[in-house]
Amino acid sequence: MSIHLGLDSSTQSLTGLIMDTEKGVVVAVESVNFEKDMPEFECEKGVLANPDPLVRHSDPLMWCAALDKLFAKLADAGAPMRDIRGISGSGQQHGSVYLNARFADAIAAGSAEQSLVEIIAPTLARSTSPIWMDASTSAECAEIADAIGKERVAKTTGSPPTERFTGPQIRKFHKDDPSGYDDSDSIHLVSSFLSSILTGKESPIDYGDGAGMNLLNLETLEWDADILEATAPGLISKLPPPVPSSTTIGNVSRYFVDKYGVSPEAKCVVWSGDNPNSLVGTGASKPGTAVISLGTSDTFFAAMENFGTDPEGHGHVFGNPAGGFMSLICFTNGSLAQERVKDDLGADWSGFDALLAAGTPGNGGNIMLPYFVPENTPLVPHAGIVLAGDDDFTSGNGSPETRARAVVESQMLSMRLHSAWIAGDNAFSTIRITGGGSRSDVICQIVANIFQAKVERISVSDSAALGAAMRAANAIDGTSWEFMNEEFTAHFSIITPDTATSATYKESLARFAELEQTT
Ligand code: XUL
Repeated sequence: MSIHLGLDSSTQSLTGLIMDTEKGVVVAVESVNFEKDMPEFECEKGVLANPDPLVRHSDPLMWCAALDKLFAKLADAGAPMRDIRGISGSGQQHGSVYLNARFADAIAAGSAEQSLVEIIAPTLARSTSPIWMDASTSAECAEIADAIGKERVAKTTGSPPTERFTGPQIRKFHKDDPSGYDDSDSIHLVSSFLSSILTGKESPIDYGDGAGMNLLNLETLEWDADILEATAPGLISKLPPPVPSSTTIGNVSRYFVDKYGVSPEAKCVVWSGDNPNSLVGTGASKPGTAVISLGTSDTFFAAMENFGTDPEGHGHVFGNPAGGFMSLICFTNGSLAQERVKDDLGADWSGFDALLAAGTPGNGGNIMLPYFVPENTPLVPHAGIVLAGDDDFTSGNGSPETRARAVVESQMLSMRLHSAWIAGDNAFSTIRITGGGSRSDVICQIVANIFQAKVERISVSDSAALGAAMRAANAIDGTSWEFMNEEFTAHFSIITPDTATSATYKESLARFAELEQTT
C-alpha cells in the first residue's frame, strides 16, 4: 500500500485527493467550498468585497479554517489517514501572507484542542492577503521597472514586473503600511503558508511557485538581490529559501496526528503553485503537449524545451516540478465570465451548453472582448465588454446562441493569439484539457477547432490536487512519472478538429487581434 495525499487550495475551494499508487486508484476526494461552506468569512467566490475593482484580497484565516474542515471531512468519510505516507499541496499562485514573529512558535506548539484559526489569528501581521486577481500595483511595477529595467526583470525572473505577482504586491504593502511591513517577520505564498502549518515549521518556497513572485533569479535559482532591493527594504530576511519542488520538508505536525489521525510518519513535500501542480497532474510534465485549464482563471501552459520569455510580456516562465521550466499564460476572465453570460441568459450550465451547440463555428462574425473584470492578458485595468459583429449583437439584442458562443469563442481566440510565443513555428498538435469547463463536449470541440489540434480529455478534473499527490509519491517513494501517468493521467476521450472550420477561425483570429488593439 502506498498512499499519498494531495491538497489544492484554489481561489474558491480546498480539495484533498488521496491516491494509492500500488493499486493505481484514487481512494478519496473531498472538497470544501469557501463561499458555500464557510459563509462567515464573507468571501464571495473566495474573495473579500472591495469597492476598488483592482483590489482583490482574501482572508488567510479562511484557508486555515478550510484545512481543519477538510481534514475532518476526510477522516469522517473513512479515508485511510493512518496509511498516508506522503503529503504535498498546491496553492493559488502569487497570493501572499504576512506573518509576525510569533508565527514559528505558534505553529510548532499548536495544540489539537485549538482550531487553526485560533492558532494563526494572533500571528498575522496583515489581516488580508492580496491574491492573483489583484491588479492594483501598476505604479509599483513601473517603479521596479525603472530601478532595474523591465527587460532585465523579465529575463531574470521569467516575467516582466506584473501586477498580480508577489514582489510588486509586497512593495505596495511596504508603501501603504510601513509598520505592517516591518512587523512582517516572514512573507509566505499561499502554498508555503499552508505547508508551514502542515509541518509545524516555516516552509521553504519551491521553484515552481517562487517563479511567480518577480523575485527569483531563474538562472541561479536564488532570490535576486538587486530586484529584492528595488522591491522593499530588508526583504531578503523575510522570504523563506527557494528549493527544488521535490524537497521533503519534514513530518506532518502533531496537530494533524492528534486531531485527524494522520500517521506521525507521514512526510511532507514542499508545496507548489496550482499551475505547476496541474502540469504534473495532467501528465504533461514532459515537453510536447500543451494544457488548457478552464477554471476561475483560464490558463494555457506547457513544459518548456528551451527557456524563452514572451516578447509581448503577457506570458510567464515558472519552474516545472518535474525538472526544467514551464511557460504559462493566464486569463483572469475565465469561468466567471461564462457564468455571467449564462446568468444573463437565464440558463443553467446544461442550457448554456445547448445554446453553444446550437450556434455555428465563427459565430457569424460576432466576437467580444470578455472583460467582465479587469484582465491581465492583455493587461486591461478596468472592466468593460466590447462587442463587434452585426447590429443585433452589438446592440445587446443578439440571439441567446450568439451571445453564449461569443464569450467562449472569444476566450479561446484570445488563448490562441497569446500562446503563439510558446508554440513558435510548431503549433501544438495535442492539447490536454482540464478544469470545470472541460466537462463540456461543445467547449472541447471549440478548442479543437480554434487551435486545429487534437484535444485530449483526462478523467481526473482535480489536476492540481492529483499533481500534488503525484509529487509526494515521486519524492517519498521514487514512483516514476511514467508509471503514474499511465495509472492516473491517461486520457479517456479525444476530440479531433474539424478542418473545415480552419479558414473561418483564421478570420475570427485576425478580427479578434484587431479588436484587442482598440482597448
Ligand atoms: C497564474 C495565475 C492563476 C492563479 C490562480 O499566473 O495567476 O492561474 O494561479 O489559479
